[in-house]
Amino acid sequence: MQVPFTRPYLRGDEGAAVAEVIASGWVSQGPRVREFETAFAERVGALDAVATTNCTSALQLALYVSGVGPGDEVIVPSLSFIATANAVWQNGATPVFADVDARTYNLDPVAAEAAITERTRAIMPVHQLGLPADMDPFLELARRHGIQVVEDAACAIGARYKGRLIGSLGPLACFSLHPRKVITTGEGGMIAVNDGEVAERLRRLRQHAMDVSDLARHGATDVVIESYPERGWNLRMTDMQAALGLCQLDRLDEILAERARQAARYSAAIDHVPHLEPPFEPGYAERTWQSYAVRLLPGAPLSRMELMRRLMTDGIATRRGVMAIHEEQAYAGADAVLPNTEAATRDSLMLPLFPGLSDEQQDYVIDRLATHVTALAA
Ligand SMILES: Cc1ncc(COP(=O)(O)O)c(C=O)c1O
Repeated sequence: MQVPFTRPYLRGDEGAAVAEVIASGWVSQGPRVREFETAFAERVGALDAVATTNCTSALQLALYVSGVGPGDEVIVPSLSFIATANAVWQNGATPVFADVDARTYNLDPVAAEAAITERTRAIMPVHQLGLPADMDPFLELARRHGIQVVEDAACAIGARYKGRLIGSLGPLACFSLHPRKVITTGEGGMIAVNDGEVAERLRRLRQHAMDVSDLARHGATDVVIESYPERGWNLRMTDMQAALGLCQLDRLDEILAERARQAARYSAAIDHVPHLEPPFEPGYAERTWQSYAVRLLPGAPLSRMELMRRLMTDGIATRRGVMAIHEEQAYAGADAVLPNTEAATRDSLMLPLFPGLSDEQQDYVIDRLATHVTALAA
């Protein structure tokens, strides 16, 4: 049996929505992007939402409007995709790595506070693999220290913290629409914004800070000459992507329910397998299960790499756990002591989980996993 690691949930009717955009002749950022932004903001409980090319550019812009620039420091977890730190660097600032909580794998508020210096401008909690970070302490410490909060919510559309949607909690939360995320537009990003003026500035900055959008110019009754009050970027989403995004958003509840169902099946089974530990579930969170990471406990009879190799031989695709950015050459020299991060990246692996994975395939994964670990343990 072959079991792929993931697949986007595309049902076949998306083509008609994209074709409609093409037939309209308006293929770059236009009415569909606006419609998608409105629907997205409503779904994540935000005042507004601003579409961009991907989550990395969304994070870069969100940090920029938070005042992050050269000479500043931004506190981030090292246990994240490298984009988290790169977005800080893209603003000329320095990412400062703080450790994660050993159980949730999310940034630890105590470690983050200890990393604050007089140069700290912002803090970036990551809702890793769709599990909300413990937001109340972050928002509180940001208030106390007068620093900004930008949430990396790449994997967290639809997730809730203490019943409240990710996107409704802090000033700026950035989502990814890459095919490995919960919903996709091929490539794409979205910034949930809870301040109307900031939203308008973000809309300008993503189109070279031009003060008139193409949509506004199109609807104008007189000639419009635009101006450029500041410098910006070209980070426009296309209307074709937005049409796909609207179809995906319609299916979000269905996708989240199926992901949760599969995660519950994994956890119930893995609970009984020696040397393996299912993901910890803090009581405050409803997660998206963008990925399912199982932990290989210390003393296990085989390494994580060996287990992944054996599963690959069985036809099962897995991925290593979340990377540790400070261990990469790109961030060599980052002066960081991060024992929980190093253990988490070393000991965890991600299992196939996506709408379309059959129960039969999932049972096969569970069976092979248990066989490899217990056969060697015996
Ligand atoms: C935590 C995290 N942040 C940021 C990103 C970057 O997202 P994108 O590929 O949309 O730029 C990812 C994507 O893998 C991610 O997992």
